[in-house]
Amino acid sequence: MNALYVRVLSFAFLCGLVIVAMATAAERDPLKPRVPEGDRAAAQKMKNPVAASADTLAKGKALYEGKGACIKCHGPSGAGDGPFGKNLKPSPRSLTNGEWQKSRADGELFWIIKNGSPGTGMVSLIPSDINEDEAWHIINYVRTLDAK
Ligand code: HEC
Repeated sequence: MNALYVRVLSFAFLCGLVIVAMATAAERDPLKPRVPEGDRAAAQKMKNPVAASADTLAKGKALYEGKGACIKCHGPSGAGDGPFGKNLKPSPRSLTNGEWQKSRADGELFWIIKNGSPGTGMVSLIPSDINEDEAWHIINYVRTLDAK
């Protein structure tokens, strides 16, 4: 192989990498824990005080789509494709990701809804937008969004 050929090839390879990076720039390390280490064990121990039932899930869905406004960023199916979410970097979590669902305790979701994920569009929503009881209802609903 001559030197020019090698350079053309590596350039093509780099372009490929950039395109892949752009297409996936989207979400940032979805499985990496978001709750800071110091708070994580306590968050993982929290119990969701709201039992999932047809009624509480319906309330959770209504809050996700209404007052909580989660839908604006996370999208109707939770895929992270809501109208506001499209312009955010990093982009909103896809709540349909089964691996991600398994990697998080309810209390970690609660911690994020309460404190936000610093440096991202996920801001603190308790108590500004919803109260704690409403957040637990939404969390039960989020658990149904796993695409499987
Ligand atoms: C303004 C846009 C926006 C709104 C509104 C919003 N989110 Fe998010 N959300 C984000 C972004 C962006 C991330 C990704 C943050 C990151 O990568 O750390 C995120 C991440 C999350 C995560 C993942 C945290 C983790 O541990 O990985 C959960 C859970 C979540 N949001 C739930 C909600 C719920 C529930 C609501 C509604 C009560 C909501 N979000 C409203 C933008 C939003």
